[in-house]
Amino acid sequence: SPVWPGLIEAYRSRLPVSATTPVVTLHEGATPLVPAVELSRRTGCEVFLKVEGANPTGSFKDRGMTMAITKALEEGSRAVICASTGNTSASAAAYAARAGMVCAVLVPQGKIALGKLAQALVHGAKLLQVEGNFDDCLALASKLAIDYPVSLVNSVNQYRIEGQKTASFEVVDVLGDAPDVHCLPVGNAGNITAYWQGYREYESDGPATRRPRMFGFQAAGAAPIVTGQVVENPSTIATAIRIGNPASWTKALAARDESGGRIDAVTDREILAAYRLLARSEAVFVEPASAASVAGLLKVAAAGELEPGQRVVCTVTGNGLKDPEWAISGAPAPVTVPVDAAAAAAQLGL
Ligand code: F0G
Repeated sequence: SPVWPGLIEAYRSRLPVSATTPVVTLHEGATPLVPAVELSRRTGCEVFLKVEGANPTGSFKDRGMTMAITKALEEGSRAVICASTGNTSASAAAYAARAGMVCAVLVPQGKIALGKLAQALVHGAKLLQVEGNFDDCLALASKLAIDYPVSLVNSVNQYRIEGQKTASFEVVDVLGDAPDVHCLPVGNAGNITAYWQGYREYESDGPATRRPRMFGFQAAGAAPIVTGQVVENPSTIATAIRIGNPASWTKALAARDESGGRIDAVTDREILAAYRLLARSEAVFVEPASAASVAGLLKVAAAGELEPGQRVVCTVTGNGLKDPEWAISGAPAPVTVPVDAAAAAAQLGL
């Protein structure tokens, strides 16, 4: 069809929907797989960026949310709830609005990017700022979903994983086979779980002949999977992955171990360096958490632990416009000039 129908229609046979399922879609998916020239040069590999910020609400969460809201509607739910570091709430609010459902959102007070807060509000979500971190919000949302008539749409909901696995399908559909390595930022660990499921399915009964090694990267101040211990007070500038007790922890370990991959930590400094490199050299503006995948790739390559010549895909999970703070604070303040060509030219060094 001339119009991309959204990922449920595109991958219908591989998703838990029937002919009568009321599909709720914003035509998400089919995101660009962009060759990364500078990253390829630096690593000696063939690197691509899966630009998930190109989804309707600006993050990969839309893949999971089209499925989760569709199934909630099919099952007769009138209201959904989620805990979020921002992107899940933005996506849930939008898809709930599309479905005519009520959306409740629990976010850690003062710890989500302004653009994401704006999205939840503009789409009409009922938003509560919780005096706690993401892990507290998720515990609270889970309890409310048990005790009250509201469906939980965090990634502990298997339909979220089903939707998100389609990103792996798209990578294989474009490249012709799975890459050697796939790099992802890791927070609650739903997405690495979903990608691994997608790659496994496509290899077992689809067009792929192999599976990639899965490389996950957490922020150093919020790296429970790396240290093996719950982080009581997670801290990182990458607020999207400021999570101390990931819900899909054991599934992330399975993805790592079954694929011969790794889960490592990257510092905030490394994240910001990758964030700036992506914007300046690849012209891809992502939010800080998204840059963790690229920071991790550069770190592994610099340590000599990446064989040159491999095909590598880094998912950049969210759009930079959601969290412009770090773009502005890292740049010189704009100069003001009068309406005068000579003055403008002098300031521009022309
Ligand atoms: N990147 C971004 C931009 C995210 O928003 C998230 C998670 C991740 C990476 C990590 O993905 O949790 O599946 O390991 N954001 C969630 C949220 C927690 O509430 O928006 P994950």
